[in-house]
Amino acid sequence: MVKYKVADESLAEKGKEALYTAERKMPVVAKVIRERFEKEKPLKGVTIAGCLHITKETGILARTLMAGGAEVALCGSNPLSTQDNVAAALAEEGVNVFAWHGNTDEEFYWCIRQCLDLKPNILIDDGGDLIVTAHQDYPNLLKAGNFWGCQEETTTGVKRFKAMEKQGVLNVPLFPVNDARCKNQFDNELGTGQGVVSAIYGMHVLFAGKICVICGYGHCSSGMALRARGLGANVIVTEVDPIKALQARFAGYQVMPIKKAIPGADIILTATGCKHVIAPTKEMFELLKDGVILGNLGHFDIEIPTKELYEYAKEIKPIRKDVEELIFPNGNRIYLLAKGRLANLVLSEGHPSEVMDMSFALQSLMSEYIVKNKDKFKPGMIPVPEEIDDKIGFLKLKSIGIEIDTLTEEQYNYIHGYTEGT
Ligand SMILES: NC(=O)c1ccc[n+]([C@@H]2O[C@H](COP(=O)([O-])OP(=O)(O)OC[C@H]3O[C@@H](n4cnc5c(N)ncnc54)[C@H](O)[C@@H]3O)[C@@H](O)[C@H]2O)c1
Repeated sequence: MVKYKVADESLAEKGKEALYTAERKMPVVAKVIRERFEKEKPLKGVTIAGCLHITKETGILARTLMAGGAEVALCGSNPLSTQDNVAAALAEEGVNVFAWHGNTDEEFYWCIRQCLDLKPNILIDDGGDLIVTAHQDYPNLLKAGNFWGCQEETTTGVKRFKAMEKQGVLNVPLFPVNDARCKNQFDNELGTGQGVVSAIYGMHVLFAGKICVICGYGHCSSGMALRARGLGANVIVTEVDPIKALQARFAGYQVMPIKKAIPGADIILTATGCKHVIAPTKEMFELLKDGVILGNLGHFDIEIPTKELYEYAKEIKPIRKDVEELIFPNGNRIYLLAKGRLANLVLSEGHPSEVMDMSFALQSLMSEYIVKNKDKFKPGMIPVPEEIDDKIGFLKLKSIGIEIDTLTEEQYNYIHGYTEGT
């Protein structure tokens, strides 16, 4: 029997409408892979738990995994990113879903444990909380080899698992799907890149002519810098990696330390995966200009020092949906998006379905790969096989009607050989 806890079951119809629009924009997951899964049932008898943003796109993934024969359990990977209508629709469709918008930290982990209690064979994580909880609270399932393989969807989660592996405490086969080419070069760059628009959803602000500081120049943040510039902003990039900083400079952005960038900034957006990108000090807070918009698109709410900003402010006023005005002792007002949490998911609906088609095609094919090869894996990080990465590229191209060249045998031998020179 399906188990679930959602905010409001009566929202299911609205959720189905949202799922309907996503289906058509995700042809690889919702059509190509699903039709094959329906026939072949490669996931029959398998339980899959996902700790993911509960959006319409995640719903499409759940439908495809179920079409393949899996029992699916879902919980949210961020307390503010769950779309309650989608959660309600999925519960009605037979997904074990434990998620509602605005859950507390305690409730967040309760939802994770509900999924783990179903003894899933495959864990699909976004940020690491599901798999870390499995290590901390479910040692018996770990010892019994219940978790055949795990997938991590985002950069922050991959970093956590690399740290676990280094300390010798990663006890499951872990596929960093985030690092596949078909994922981070599209989902992170295009999806999060377009997430700068969350500042517009938040404050209905004009980017043209503004000074917009983008913290980081990695996959997500380089996309954000590009989109902010496209909207007419003067973009300043801050970085800690010299090569990334040079790339930003040669792409035409101003590059400087955060302390120098802050005083002129009209909009500051972070996506670094790092803590306290703006240092939590009075000195730094006093540099912030009156009226500045602060938003974070990195996984956790620690890039902007939200807690310390709340403590420093003499008044906090909710002024628009998911935007708060913080009034400082010096009278300056700053506008904080989404309580410092993933602004693109909280203020809007997260990545567009077209992009998630590739990420979730990857999760679907990787689930099938894990089932087929489970006896061969050892605990530790295992890269996504190149054939699967490439296959998703081909399927996506095909779905949008684009053909490309293939190597001739002569060309293949040339680029894999060394004998031909000058
Ligand atoms: N909002 C979303 O929908 C979404 C989607 C994908 C990833 N993410 C998250 O976004 C974050 C970034 O992911 P990514 O794939 O771009 O990672 P990445 O490693 O490609 O890029 C991060 C960049 O930030 C830089 N950096 C680190 N600390 C910094 C600091 N203190 N100041 C300035 N720059 C700093 C790094 O040098 C690096 O270039 C992660 O937390 C990831 O999980 C969010």
